[in-house]
Amino acid sequence: MDSFRSKENLNRFESIFGKTKQLPRLFQAPARINIIGEHVDYLGGTVLPAAINFAVQVYLRPKDTASYKLHSVTYNETVEIKKPLTPNPQAPWSDYIAGVIVEIEKKGHVVPGFDLLVDGNIPQGSGLSSSAALEVVTGFAIGETFGLDISKEEVALIGQRAENHFVGTKCGIMDQFVIAVGKENDCISLNTDTLKYSYHHFDLGDYEFYLINSNVKHSLKDSAYNQRRAECESALVKIQTNYPNFTHLYDVNLTESELDACRLTNQEWKRTKHVTSERDRTKIVIEGLESGNFKEVGSALFQTHWSLSKEFEVSCPETDFIVASLQNLGVTGARMIGGGFGGCVLVLDLKDHFSKIEEDLKKSYQQKFDLAIDFYKFQISDGVKEILI
Ligand code: GLA
Repeated sequence: MDSFRSKENLNRFESIFGKTKQLPRLFQAPARINIIGEHVDYLGGTVLPAAINFAVQVYLRPKDTASYKLHSVTYNETVEIKKPLTPNPQAPWSDYIAGVIVEIEKKGHVVPGFDLLVDGNIPQGSGLSSSAALEVVTGFAIGETFGLDISKEEVALIGQRAENHFVGTKCGIMDQFVIAVGKENDCISLNTDTLKYSYHHFDLGDYEFYLINSNVKHSLKDSAYNQRRAECESALVKIQTNYPNFTHLYDVNLTESELDACRLTNQEWKRTKHVTSERDRTKIVIEGLESGNFKEVGSALFQTHWSLSKEFEVSCPETDFIVASLQNLGVTGARMIGGGFGGCVLVLDLKDHFSKIEEDLKKSYQQKFDLAIDFYKFQISDGVKEILI
């Protein structure tokens, strides 16, 4: 991964932006998985993500003119943007870069002009956070190139603000944070209220995690995400009328009748149920991974999937089908990950089991949805970093 297409990309960089004595610097940010704690990172919850070995890479070289020329290898597209930066519907991929520049400048820095080439191998729309990776790698590359002294944690927050304010998705902090501070072989447990985090190495013994991509991308994903977040926020406001001490929906621990008295809508009730039950499952999963009780971990992952599907309503028929099939085929645990509405399913299973179920699953999925699934094995890898070229 460290050197994917680096020769071609350097040549491409020079043919698009011109050859000078100064070589661009190369920076890389990973994709992420999340083992447990889904749709709680904007509600003060705890999450357990890890960086994995798919990546976005950017080549960046400063220049004297006050504009930013950007090239995407994936879209084979070049755009030049100038301040004041505004969203560009013709090249939406460039908004993640522009949003980061805007957010860095809001902190009082000046971002001089540069040329930037971006390439990557994170499957888009797979729920593995290709956009957060682009934000984080851009923020880190700008900070390092111009000596702005921005910590990785701050790069993560800048990326989240870019997504919230410039792109318009009201995401939480999980993706950008783990992509910034991730470490080879370790998950992080992150308290999204305090941003305190710690690294955890889990010995999986005879078990492994892998991913299945449903290859479904839902076009209403972002608006539905924002809507879920709004429902959680309105649920909390109503709960606070009776119980002003709760500052986060994640912390609510009321009985059903106490909740009933808060006059939540049916949707607010269901969202609250997912969020608070996810808190209990997170505890079970972390303890199970530490003690090697993988059956318990697996059953909590299945429960999370059905809670995301039925209570939080962010799954779709395709990922539901994959998880139900895996459950019937006897895998240890599985659930959709990320924002939802398609994308990947994370599977926990015994190492030798995958080859026995692969064919069955591929066939039945193809028959039902006329669509292929992809399987990804992965390694837990480092967060954002510079690659020396
Ligand atoms: C997306 C968002 C994250 C998080 C997950 C769901 O990946 O970017 O902030 O909310 O969905 O857990």
